[in-house]
Amino acid sequence: MSGPVLVTGAAGRIGTVLRGGLPERGWAVRCLDVVPIVDTRPGEEQVVADAADLAAMVDAAAGASAVVHLAGHSGESTWPVISRSHIESTYCALEAARRAGIDRVVLASSNHATGFTPRPASGLLREADAPPRPDTYYGAAKVAMEALASLYADRYGMDVVCLRIGSAFPEPTALRHLSTWLSPADSVALVDAALTAPAPGFAVVWGVSANTRNWWDLSAARALGYEPQDDAEVYAEALIEAYGEPDLADPVHARVGGDYVLPSFDAQEDS
Ligand SMILES: NC(=O)c1ccc[n+]([C@@H]2O[C@H](COP(=O)([O-])OP(=O)(O)OC[C@H]3O[C@@H](n4cnc5c(N)ncnc54)[C@H](O)[C@@H]3O)[C@@H](O)[C@H]2O)c1
Repeated sequence: MSGPVLVTGAAGRIGTVLRGGLPERGWAVRCLDVVPIVDTRPGEEQVVADAADLAAMVDAAAGASAVVHLAGHSGESTWPVISRSHIESTYCALEAARRAGIDRVVLASSNHATGFTPRPASGLLREADAPPRPDTYYGAAKVAMEALASLYADRYGMDVVCLRIGSAFPEPTALRHLSTWLSPADSVALVDAALTAPAPGFAVVWGVSANTRNWWDLSAARALGYEPQDDAEVYAEALIEAYGEPDLADPVHARVGGDYVLPSFDAQEDS
């Protein structure tokens, strides 16, 4: 593929990790975010724009070889914020790619698209075992993201890979992360696999590291070429010492969405 990868949300946590790791794997990066990137790296292109602005996205996609769409409000918020920053922006990412003749798009979905799914007491959940069961407006927007991905793959023959990311942080900081962690290095490996897998069509895959306590089956991600290297288990002793073993009777640990399923995430009056 020639041309840079357009990475939206490039100033954020995952975007910053990808800006470090993708060039090492041979990708040139065109960064897009609503905020300017302060630590610009050599060779990087930068666009300051709203990913939910179709005209801006069409301009930004010109000459790119692929789109990695990360932009959006992190976590739960009001419906207007969520619908614009996740659903509208996903439409713009896909439509801008289509107009630019780009046939590979990688979308940052989330485990919260399936957050009310009971956590398996044993065994691993495949993607097919976890149909949409969002836990929040945020999760519902990720379901819409996956639906748009399916539409653009079927209607226009594009390759659109949705990554149902678990918890992408520098290191696990909560008990749940022992099962949901996606390490920085594995984030790069997963996105690289999604960008390079031959003809994936429409795909939805879990995005976690090779955690000993994983709930999610990584077969589909591995079929794309993803080879995770990290395991949250190295943090288990310290986290269990701090918080105890996860108790499945505790509502926070009963569903895969964790605390996102709790009443504290109910819609607020002014949303
Ligand atoms: N970090 C995780 O654990 C995790 C888990 C599941 C899914 N995700 C998804 O991955 C993506 C990136 O997550 P992150 O942790 O890097 O989040 P982040 O909040 O660190 O970064 C998001 C970036 O998007 C930018 N942004 C927001 N709205 C925008 C818009 N309309 N146009 C352009 N830029 C916009 C922000 O300025 C920010 O730099 C998000 O879509 C998030 O929902 C993250």
